[in-house]
Amino acid sequence: MTLITTRDKIFELQEGETLLEGLERTGHDVEYQCRSGYCGSCRVKLLSGKVAYHDLPLAFIGPNEILPCCCRVTEPIEIDCNARMQARDLFENDLFDES
Ligand code: FES
Repeated sequence: MTLITTRDKIFELQEGETLLEGLERTGHDVEYQCRSGYCGSCRVKLLSGKVAYHDLPLAFIGPNEILPCCCRVTEPIEIDCNARMQARDLFENDLFDES
């Protein structure tokens, strides 16, 4: 199990799960298209730690960027990724409660 720290949460990757899948499971806001290292849509900034790749991804990634869809995480890392904003339920009972 590998510890992942984001801007909003800390969680462990599950066995066989990609970082992208782990971010989705834990409610993070991360873009994706190909899910296999071609498009670069999923790139996020790596703040600390290291990742590796089975095969060198074809997508362009800048310095300190990683591709969560296809990187292998083998040590605790910290990434620049936020949890999805929760929209308020307009029918919540206490929406207009001023107390
Ligand atoms: S989703 Fe396309 S490179 Fe990750």
